[in-house]
Amino acid sequence: MNDVRFYKLLISVNALIPLGLLLIDASNGRLGANPIEFFLRTTGVLTLTFLLITLAVTPLRKIFGWNSLIKYRRMLGLFAFFYGCLHLVTYSIFDKSLGFSAIVADVIQRPFIAIGMIAFTLLVPLAITSTNGMVKRLGGKNWARLHKLAYVAAILGVIHFWMIVKSDIFYPALFGVVLATSFFIRLVWPKKQAIQRAIN
Ligand code: HEM
Repeated sequence: MNDVRFYKLLISVNALIPLGLLLIDASNGRLGANPIEFFLRTTGVLTLTFLLITLAVTPLRKIFGWNSLIKYRRMLGLFAFFYGCLHLVTYSIFDKSLGFSAIVADVIQRPFIAIGMIAFTLLVPLAITSTNGMVKRLGGKNWARLHKLAYVAAILGVIHFWMIVKSDIFYPALFGVVLATSFFIRLVWPKKQAIQRAIN
C-alpha cells in the first residue's frame, strides 16, 4: 500500500469512528434522555467540523507548504457531506417522521432550520461535482468558482449553530473564529507573499 492510500484509509477510519461510537452508544441506550436530539446535534457538529477541516486545507498549504494535503481534500469534503446527509436523515425521519408538511412548517417557523436547509442544499452540487470527470467537464476555473460555495455553506452552518444555542455561544463562536481565520489567510496570504517578493 502506498502512502496516499494509507493516509486515506487512516482518515476514513478516523472519520467513521464518531459514527461507530454513536451507533454503539445508541444500541446500548447510552445517548441520554433524548437520543434523537443527541444524534442530531452530534451529526450537525461533525458536518461543520469536516467542512472546516476541508476549508483549512488551502490555508495550511499556503502557510506550511503542505501541498500533498490536496490529495485528501475531496474525501474530507465528502465526509462533511456524508455527515450532513445523516443529519438531514435524522431530522427528517426520526424527528419529523418524514412528514413533508411538518418539515415545511418547521422551515417556515424556525429560521435556523431554513438556514440549515440552505447550507445543506449548497453542499449537494459540491458533492456531485467532486469527481475528476466533473472537474474536467466544468473546467478548473469554473469548478473552483463553484466550490467557493463551501465557504457560504460553512458560514450558514455557523449561523445555524449560533441560532440554536441559547446562552453558551462558546462553540459556535469557536467554529466562527476558525472559519474566519481560514478565510482571512486565503485572502491575505498571496498578497503578503507578493509584497515579500517585491521587497526581496
Ligand atoms: C439539512 C438541513 C438541516 C436541518 C433540517 C438541520 C436541523 C437541525 C436541528 C433540528 C438541530 C438540533 C436543534 C436542537 O437540538 O435544538 C441541528 C443542530 C445542528 N446543526 Fe443542523 N440542520 C441542517 C443542516 C446543517 C448543516 C449543513 C450543518 C453544518 C454545516 C449543521 C450544523 C448543525 C450544528 C453544528 C448543530 C448544533 C449542534 C449542537 O447543538 O451541539 N446543520 N440542526
